[in-house]
Amino acid sequence: MTDNPRDTHVRRGLVGVVADTTSISDVDPCRNVLLYRGYPASGLTARHTFLDVAHLLWTGELPDAAELATLERRERSLRTLDPACEAMLLSLPTDCHPMDVLRTAVSRIGAADPATADRSTDASADKAVELLAVLPTVVALDQRRRRGLDPIPPDPGLGHAENVFHMTFGEVPEPEVVRAFEIAMILYADHGFSASTFAARTVTSTRSDLYSAVVAALGALKGELHGGANEAVLNQFAEIGDPDHVDDWLAARLEAGERVMGFGHRVYKRGDSRVPALHTQMRRVAELRGGRDLMAHYEVLAGAMLREKGLRPNLDYAAGPLFHLMGFDTPLFTALFAMSRISGWTAHVIEQAAHDVLIRPVSRYDGKSRREVDAVR
Ligand code: COA
Repeated sequence: MTDNPRDTHVRRGLVGVVADTTSISDVDPCRNVLLYRGYPASGLTARHTFLDVAHLLWTGELPDAAELATLERRERSLRTLDPACEAMLLSLPTDCHPMDVLRTAVSRIGAADPATADRSTDASADKAVELLAVLPTVVALDQRRRRGLDPIPPDPGLGHAENVFHMTFGEVPEPEVVRAFEIAMILYADHGFSASTFAARTVTSTRSDLYSAVVAALGALKGELHGGANEAVLNQFAEIGDPDHVDDWLAARLEAGERVMGFGHRVYKRGDSRVPALHTQMRRVAELRGGRDLMAHYEVLAGAMLREKGLRPNLDYAAGPLFHLMGFDTPLFTALFAMSRISGWTAHVIEQAAHDVLIRPVSRYDGKSRREVDAVR
């Protein structure tokens, strides 16, 4: 390895670059598995809750009964949005993107927190629970204001997932639907050095604060090559219109050199390990919610992409239809992803702060060669 960037191979997009170690999650494309602190994420979907997983990501271990009870109590007590923040969010344009609302909310919460500058592990762990608790309140308020409806306050008598439905729709659906949502939250919780996580770690590496790191992560997640893909999937189905049109639509899209959202992955090249567990949930909810046509659309496009490009669905391809069947409006989908990934981002902020090393890659200059400034104009 040389110090001169001219002598080193440029890895545009940081493809294949191992930027640091992490003990939080392991995306293993060879064994096709995602591990959270050593546990397969898909295994955790069998019996565990999203709060179990958040505790696991933050502390390294699943909670025992007393630890879970403490976390649940805290999460339930921290759901209410500061009235000044709520008023500010309600004043935002209703045609701005929900991720802009979420990003603004976190910025506002950080600006109002007297402990923002405290970067200790304990303070960061407290902020992590606070954000995990309050983000659903922001997302639900946002969906309702876009529909011209007043916010519904959180219900501390309900679990995390149940409360999301209560605040968004005013009712808690069938247990199967609540469980499917919980499983989506578990599968979205962390994924190695994804672009948003790396953004959060980069901000943390400068010794900036946790809220600034989360704001950066939200900005990165919004893009359609990352979290924005789940809403793009539903927009694609709307554009295609009818499963019979998939082949023509896909041919035109690929001919134009465009990507199909919800397919492919930077790390997994033989399919996304998280998809089977969410696919099962999606089909279950589709049966309950009359989603047969949407499932046909899903399968036809997935088959065509495998045939034409050899590419398989990623988690966003299943999450988009699932959130749609649950009743969430399409623009909200990436914000639902953020409600889960806040657990992983904040775990990475704590880990990066402990590593305490500035993330600052070098670039190779390919602009004009050196030239002299005229002495006289
Ligand atoms: N649609 C069409 N073509 C795709 C594609 C997609 N979704 N994903 C990858 N490809 C193509 C690439 O253009 C490339 O073609 P080329 O060799 O002719 O240039 C080839 O497949 C290999 O791409 P790869 O190097 O594997 O992709 P990447 O690592 O640069 O990109 C993604 C990974 C996620 C950005 C990419 O797959 C993508 O854009 N997917 C759609 C967005 C999405 O669903 N994001 C959510 C990810 S969880």
